[in-house]
Amino acid sequence: MNFENPILVTGGAGFIGSNFIHYILRLQPEARIVNLDRLSYSGSLENLKDLPDPSRHTFVHGDIGDETLVEDLLRRHHIETLVHFAAETHVDRSIASPEAFIEANVVGTFRLLEACRRTWLPLAPERVRFHHVSTDEVYGDIGPEEPASTERDPYRPNSPYAASKAGADHLVRAYARTYGLPVTISNCSNNYGPRQFPEKLVPLMILNALEGSPLPIYGDGRQIRDWVLVDDHSSALIRILERGRPGETYHVGGGNQATNIELVRLLCAILDGVRPDSVHAPHSRLITHVADRPGHDRRYAMDTTKIRSELGWQPAHGLEHGLRETVRWYLDHTDWLGAIRDRPAYREWLKQNYAARQDLR
Ligand code: DAU
Repeated sequence: MNFENPILVTGGAGFIGSNFIHYILRLQPEARIVNLDRLSYSGSLENLKDLPDPSRHTFVHGDIGDETLVEDLLRRHHIETLVHFAAETHVDRSIASPEAFIEANVVGTFRLLEACRRTWLPLAPERVRFHHVSTDEVYGDIGPEEPASTERDPYRPNSPYAASKAGADHLVRAYARTYGLPVTISNCSNNYGPRQFPEKLVPLMILNALEGSPLPIYGDGRQIRDWVLVDDHSSALIRILERGRPGETYHVGGGNQATNIELVRLLCAILDGVRPDSVHAPHSRLITHVADRPGHDRRYAMDTTKIRSELGWQPAHGLEHGLRETVRWYLDHTDWLGAIRDRPAYREWLKQNYAARQDLR
């Protein structure tokens, strides 16, 4: 790819999208971004503060489902590369209210593909790229002895969220095969890092620990996730845009598998180290086992041989180092966390998700 024309990023005010924008503007002096985001509950312009060079970023408030708007952006900005992050992403919310996930992830992706098909294909299809950012959850859970998922494995999504992402992946592949739209797909494991909405495990545990609130572990806490620092995910995406072959899927993972309880204990130890005088130390005292997530996947594991061998990508951060940097970011941005914590809709979500899960100690 070249950086002559701006890249259209969808969902660039959310966690992974905004980190990608910070990363690419920092490392690619030529890159320009048009950022389409509808600013739903988890997206915020706060995430786009302090961009390395704000003049190379254009924010557009709007929905990926608005085909007229998307076609207009593609034409007006001469977009040849689109990176699609926009999605509903929280598994627990998808269990409580699945419809929003079908609407945003399946129908939204479909409308975006339609806009690209109509605008791009009659012109110069060999110059364009639609990159779809997806998840390891499409493979469902992997048994303790099973090998990690490869790009050829069948999809077995278990939550409404995972099913909606699987549906989106299938549509993207179909548009490549049927219409010849040049696409790539990446399926990535659990991200952590700055600007993650505190409904997800890592920032929720940091926020609760700082406040001295319980740290709710679902079930026995022995579910395994592979954690990747969001900047490593961004570097993988850039590598795929630069060198990935159209029509291909690439797995991205941090190579850092941990059980949830191990991860939360590590976070507590890091917090004890940086806040030794806190009245809440040792923070692991706050760990509380609560009722499990329905249909909870026990383990995800990604085989990343393809991106490593074909594209020469590998993650640059180990888990402990990445978590330390992440904790530091949240401690330096307590105003960012506090602003979300004080929103009525956030308090309402916490009540809805956790009130019914009784303490299992
Ligand atoms: O695997 C990639 C996926 O990772 C992404 O596609 C999703 O968008 C992202 O939300 C994430 O899904 P998870 O369900 O794995 O992430 P979450 O942070 O919600 O939970 C991580 C693990 O921690 C999971 O096993 C559930 C558990 N958990 C989570 C929360 C919020 C708890 O034990 N307690 C909690 O309060």
